[in-house]
Amino acid sequence: MAHIRSLFFDGPLSEVENKALKAYTMGRPSDVIWNITNRCNLLCDHCYMAADAHSLPDQLSDEETITLITQMGELGVPLVFLSGGEPMMRKNFWEILEKAHSYGMHITVSTNATLITREAAKRLKANGVDWIATSLYGPPHFHDKMVGVPGTHDRVIAAIKILREEGVGVALKSAVSRDTLPFIPHIIAKAKELDAGLVYLCDLITSGRSEGEESARATAAEWKQLADSILADLLDPASTMEYDIGAIPSVIPYLAEKLKAEGVDVSNGLERLKLVSACPVGKGHMNINSEGGIMPCQFAQDWTVGNIRDMTLTEATTELYKLDAQEAKGICAPEACEYSRICRGCRTKAWHATGDAMFEDPTCLLKRLADGEGTTPGDAHYERTPLSAAAPCVAPGACG
Ligand SMILES: C[S@@+](CC[C@H](N)C(=O)[O-])C[C@H]1O[C@@H](n2cnc3c(N)ncnc32)[C@H](O)[C@@H]1O
Ligand code: SF4
Ligand code: SF4
Repeated sequence: MAHIRSLFFDGPLSEVENKALKAYTMGRPSDVIWNITNRCNLLCDHCYMAADAHSLPDQLSDEETITLITQMGELGVPLVFLSGGEPMMRKNFWEILEKAHSYGMHITVSTNATLITREAAKRLKANGVDWIATSLYGPPHFHDKMVGVPGTHDRVIAAIKILREEGVGVALKSAVSRDTLPFIPHIIAKAKELDAGLVYLCDLITSGRSEGEESARATAAEWKQLADSILADLLDPASTMEYDIGAIPSVIPYLAEKLKAEGVDVSNGLERLKLVSACPVGKGHMNINSEGGIMPCQFAQDWTVGNIRDMTLTEATTELYKLDAQEAKGICAPEACEYSRICRGCRTKAWHATGDAMFEDPTCLLKRLADGEGTTPGDAHYERTPLSAAAPCVAPGACG
């Protein structure tokens, strides 16, 4: 989580960032992303969770979810994301939400927005939901094709309008791939038109229904172009749009260098990132899957450090912080990259590619790839510059 405007310009989400930072410095979870169910009413063709109409067999019971949210409240977790699957499909969604609200947590619901009616929006607001983060992939025909259900685009737009009328903040999220890339300007324009305050852009995660789709990722040159358009918006005095980037943390040092060249003082932001880093793995950021698995990152649902059924939240936090004590390797190592501790590289991509979470990020914008070259195994350039050293291949399917 790095809200770019707040990080470098003291933007709209600085308060939440400060609370998360304080929790981190106290050795507590800074934020928890919790996939409360795997069930979903859509069937997105890129879904890294491979969510469908079914819950996972060992899903936490209703009673276990309330015990867990109570633990979070008592531990002082400042920020919780209720995600899925489609979180609003979980039958005790409202019970979990009410409990979180009773502890004064900042709450974001990550939802496909299809279940948001006027009544639901009022209830979300009444239960302290600061933000709804909802997905948009492009204009109607493209969005509906991507999520597999006709009419979804228009329902999302209607839901956003209702949410804004009821005073709930809206973030628009999109997965960035070669398919969605042409529509990203449309999504940013739509966010502005609909008074959404944040755009979250996440590089394609190649698991679930996107497994093996590395060649569908945007290239380094395409990502740089996208980052440059974000830079222009950050520097536009008429814009207040907040941006967040997922799964490609090298965008942050890339932007910091560009901002510096524009005369912006980025030193405070970079100092903060030395503590929390652009890839949040091991930095107090906790993820919990629907079966209670404690994950360093939501994007790797099977990379777990234990299960909440067998450990307390404090023990889980300790396990996750151990990852921060390890240094990244290869091009991401401290001796190889001045941004090592600021960026860390995407630990999930390293894990997916090699089975070693501390290995180098294969998609670094700054180091590995020159303009115009791709980011994926199989690219000519990638093959010319293989990973720096042999890594044990334990990720299923990663080594063919
Ligand atoms: C797993 S969904 C859960 C919340 C809700 N169902 C939704 O779609 O917004 C959370 C976000 O992950 C994104 N996502 C799903 N699969 C992805 C992938 N393979 N790569 C990057 N982002 C992905 C979705 O686009 C969505 O914005
Ligand atoms: S991305 Fe979200 S809406 Fe789409 S299938 Fe996955 S969980 Fe459901
Ligand atoms: S080499 Fe690794 S740590 Fe350095 S900027 Fe690139 S991805 Fe980030």
